[in-house]
Amino acid sequence: MRRPLVAGNWKMHGSRAENAELIDGLLQNLPAQTVAEIAVCPPYVYLWEVGRLLKSSPVALGAQSVCAEQVGAFTGEVSASMLRDVGCTYVIVGHSERRTLYHEDDALVARKFLAAQSQSLVPILCVGETLEERERGQTKTVVTRQLTAVLDVAGVAAFANAVIAYEPVWAIGTGKTATPEQAQEVHAHIRAEVAKHDAKIAGELRILYGGSVKAANAREIFAMPDVDGGLIGGASLKADEFLKICEAAQVQ
Ligand code: 13P
Repeated sequence: MRRPLVAGNWKMHGSRAENAELIDGLLQNLPAQTVAEIAVCPPYVYLWEVGRLLKSSPVALGAQSVCAEQVGAFTGEVSASMLRDVGCTYVIVGHSERRTLYHEDDALVARKFLAAQSQSLVPILCVGETLEERERGQTKTVVTRQLTAVLDVAGVAAFANAVIAYEPVWAIGTGKTATPEQAQEVHAHIRAEVAKHDAKIAGELRILYGGSVKAANAREIFAMPDVDGGLIGGASLKADEFLKICEAAQVQ
């Protein structure tokens, strides 16, 4: 049985005051028992304070990226041990915005994945195709390449402590969501690829969907057998909307 995870990726949004209001709204209205595990991923500078606000709540803290190096002269970077030190459980690696805007390639993403795990953080590895790649029929090839780059370096055992997020680039922030069937097809493919290496780990691996998930469409996407929750961008910035999405995640 896989416990769903719903993680909010705040991206570069928020302020101390807005964060406090958002966390307050979440914690005040959190159902007594949520089926899904819930996490929020604020920008680096707010991690410590948001972590304090979440203290003794069931909501986990995650970061949006991490440096591939452990320590040293890397101006502007933040290490996995620092993220661990301020209370992170999760860290997103390989988000398409990092891959595209900051030129992070598969090899660097794999190193970030390893850096996260070296400090017992759980990486949320993002994979997904662009619209052009989908239209050329390359969706599975691209996702397999992104996945294999990490599998080859980290080994399948590493996926016992990792989460994958399938985020079709054309669905991110566009209001265009993959249909539940389109998501299911790619999620099943990802699980099958991991199962080629280890069926048990593949069976227990949580695969999240991300890309324009809202309260209005979450339930039908999360109902797919290989969708184990979501990585939520814009809709995670409103407490009521995010909570409705969390409530839509059920154990399969
Ligand atoms: P949106 O939910 O805003 O489309 O963003 C998805 C995403 O990129 C989450 O990481």
